[in-house]
Amino acid sequence: MPEHARDVHSHGNPEKVRVRSVALDLTASFDARTLSGSAILGIDVASGKDPLIVDTRDLVIESVETSGSGTSYATAKWTIGARDKILGAPLSVEVPAGTSFVRVRYASKPEASGLQWLTPEQTAGKKQPFLFSQNQSIHARSWIPIQDSPGVRVTYTARIHAPKQLTALMSAEHKGAAEGVFDFAMDTPIPAYLIALAVGDLQFQSAGPRTGVYAEPSVLAKASAEFSDMEKMVTAVEALYGPYRWGRYDLLILPPSFPFGGMENPRLTFATPTVIAGDKSLVGLISHELAHSWSGNLVTNATWTDFWLNEGFTTYIENRIQEEVYGEEQAAMEQVLDRRKLDEEMAELPKEQQALHAATADPDEGVTQVPYVKGSLFVRLLERTYGRPTVDAYLRGYFDHFAFRSITTAEMLEYLQRELLDKQAAKIPLQEWIFEAGLPASAPRATSPKLDAVKRDAEAFAATGAIPRAKWSTQEWLEFLQALPPLKTTQAAALDRAFALTRTGNSEILDQWLQIAIQADYAPAYPRVESFLMSVGRQKFIRPLYAALMKTPEGQARAKAIYAQARPGYHPIAQTSVDKIVTP
Ligand code: BES
Ligand code: ZN
Repeated sequence: MPEHARDVHSHGNPEKVRVRSVALDLTASFDARTLSGSAILGIDVASGKDPLIVDTRDLVIESVETSGSGTSYATAKWTIGARDKILGAPLSVEVPAGTSFVRVRYASKPEASGLQWLTPEQTAGKKQPFLFSQNQSIHARSWIPIQDSPGVRVTYTARIHAPKQLTALMSAEHKGAAEGVFDFAMDTPIPAYLIALAVGDLQFQSAGPRTGVYAEPSVLAKASAEFSDMEKMVTAVEALYGPYRWGRYDLLILPPSFPFGGMENPRLTFATPTVIAGDKSLVGLISHELAHSWSGNLVTNATWTDFWLNEGFTTYIENRIQEEVYGEEQAAMEQVLDRRKLDEEMAELPKEQQALHAATADPDEGVTQVPYVKGSLFVRLLERTYGRPTVDAYLRGYFDHFAFRSITTAEMLEYLQRELLDKQAAKIPLQEWIFEAGLPASAPRATSPKLDAVKRDAEAFAATGAIPRAKWSTQEWLEFLQALPPLKTTQAAALDRAFALTRTGNSEILDQWLQIAIQADYAPAYPRVESFLMSVGRQKFIRPLYAALMKTPEGQARAKAIYAQARPGYHPIAQTSVDKIVTP
């Protein structure tokens, strides 16, 4: 049972004393860059034998009290253990027999790893500051004392005090807002990594009966046009895997320093503004985060070693949504592009990180194409082997069976064996797929005639300099750029002359192009490299660009100079990961 799955990334002791609920009362102080107030943890009635142990990282703890009824509190004995660089420090609280509530008064530190405090200059509107959290994987503990394991689910309520010209949003139901005070409740138990908070100058535009977009005022019109298919997407997944169980599905567009593309916070996906391309060509990201409402939020990986259960199933479902809403050709192109990224990354990864079931010391480092794309190919193989109708029905049953639970890979496999494999003649090499390195030969391969044609254009350009006709979609552009061999400076210049790639407004195309430009040492692109790295904090883009720069001595100097300026504007998570690339 997940209740006993040991999580190496948490100090918590849920097997002894389990946290079931959290009630937050926090004030966001933009001057001090702190969240301060209290968290009341509701626990299974204590026997008095064991302490309660929760995770913390860099919290300033003022007091800890315990209570039986939740009405009157008594001072508790507590200790903070040694701080681990990755895991933070355990907070151990003596809980006398009969204790049901533990109240911690505390504040977060300005450098809390799960929070980014933005100056007005870092926002679209340039007038108001902004705060957002990013708890996955193990950053909840930097602003909430909690058993920060995906195997521990809690309901939560929150009262957030914020400057009165700003709006607070959370991954929860809105329970009322008055002058600078916002109340929220999430009645369905979720893991700590899905608790989320944002505070900023935000407005809302509805997209459908239960969908809509929040963004800064100057971004809202563009954003809601881009994401006008949200309601259709929700309907599409429901037809496949059963009802959407979270009430509303809204989207929050964050400032560009958001370190990820998207984050599946329940009821409120957080997303980078870099998916706004103007033509809906990058909305697969929304399909992805929405898919997590089933794979991830409803059925959750019990530990980060089981991360592929979240991301592999989600990447598969993402593509099914894309197919449903934008057609087979679009879905096929996205699969082909994913596969190239997997093959490229797999070639460089250490063996231990090539298995689906894989542990890393820091879970943020396990985020490779393997859990995503290899994981999705595993589900795709089931589909190819047993047929879509059978596997769709199986998955629907899987989500119902494990709804609102956190499960390990072993539990998933046991259910798969019983409910699908045992009923079918054809075999799947499970051991190889889940526990071994490399991509099995049985991996299905998607094909796209459109991308095949583009690939031939890339080959022709490389061989003869022939400029293609290029009336291309985003995915075709990405195929073209990724299929090119390393270019000479003159070749890069010819492409830029023909297509003005350095000036493209499409972030994915720009990112791919700038990687090429750096490798080709095409100087006219350097100002754009710098302005992109200065304005965007999405790790998927900035890490490869810094890595490309670091390959030559001149590039290293450039990378260091840019990073010295850009670093203070990056999220703490991005700072940590880029620090490892741009080394002094
Ligand atoms: N849950 C992830 C983001 C994440 C993973 C945050 C691990 C922290 C640790 C989210 O669903 C995701 O996968 N986002 C992708 C987009 C997707 C289309 C592949 C991203 O941010 O690039
Ligand atoms: Zn995901």
